[in-house]
Order: sequence, then C-alpha cells, then structure tokens
Amino acid sequence: MENIIRENLSINIKVIDLLNEQIGRESRASSVYLAMASWCDQNGYDFSAAFFYNQSNEEREHMLKIFKYINDNGGIAYSPEIPKVNHEYESILDIYKTALQEEIGISKEIHKIFLTCRKENDVASELFLQWFVNEQQEEEQKMRHAVKIYELHGEDVENHYLLDKRMSRS
Ligand code: FEO
Repeated sequence: MENIIRENLSINIKVIDLLNEQIGRESRASSVYLAMASWCDQNGYDFSAAFFYNQSNEEREHMLKIFKYINDNGGIAYSPEIPKVNHEYESILDIYKTALQEEIGISKEIHKIFLTCRKENDVASELFLQWFVNEQQEEEQKMRHAVKIYELHGEDVENHYLLDKRMSRS
C-alpha cells in the first residue's frame, strides 16, 4: 500500500495491508451475490433471489466491519474498486456451487490473515478475526447444504422450483 501514514498503531502493519485486501474480497462477494440475486429473480427463483439479496447485504456489512476496524485502530482503510462480476449462470445448481467456491476461497484468505496475526503477535486483530472465522463456517455450511439438496434432485427443473422455497428457511 502506498503512502500510508501509520502513527500510534495498535495493530500490525502487515495485518492492516492484508485486511485492506480483504475489504476488496468482501466487496467483490457482495457484488457477486447481487448478480446471483438478479439471475434468480429473472429465472423465477424468488426465494433464492431473496437469499442472495440478503447475502449481498451481509458481505457489505463484513466489508464495513473491517473498514471501521482499520480506521479505528490508526490505519487507513481504502474504499475498494468496483469489481466486474459474472452475470451468466447455467442453472440454480451452478449458482450455489459457485457461491460455495466463493465462500471457501474467502475462508482460506481469512485463515491466512488470522495466522499472520499470530505470527506478528497482533492479539487484537486475531480476536477481531475470530468472528469472521465463525461466520465463514456458517456461510460455507449454508451453501454446501443448498448444493447438496440441488444435486440430490438431479436435472428435474420442476423440483428445482419446489426446492427454491426451502431457501426461505436458510
Ligand atoms: Fe464475508 Fe462470506 O465472506
């Protein structure tokens, strides 16, 4: 990161840089889920659409949580660039499979930052990230559950619409 003035920092500089990168990932996830909500809306999967609108909001909240943490602790948080995201999906199963991969990727990055906190003795940030570790587990479980349900019911599109209603319980 260029020209960051970091005085009186209580958190580690390397960790701040990694957290700034994570802001970009959370923002990207929010955009990806918004595109998925749009696809679901257009294709009649009303409950999945509501699910992904909500997921998109949650990812934005994650981004803001990290953003505030950096600024509150003497660092400089950077507003992320708006990413270009895919809007084309083959099926509702494709949507949930992609969302699961998205969450697994984010979990891996969170774990990397968490381990950097340990290595750099940044206790405050490690505790801060504990919430994200737990949250990621929950989000992966939600997506994995949806993938499993849609895979079990194969290519039967009629069934897919019935299964969509189950997303209202997620
Ligand atoms: Fe905030 Fe699910 O990544």
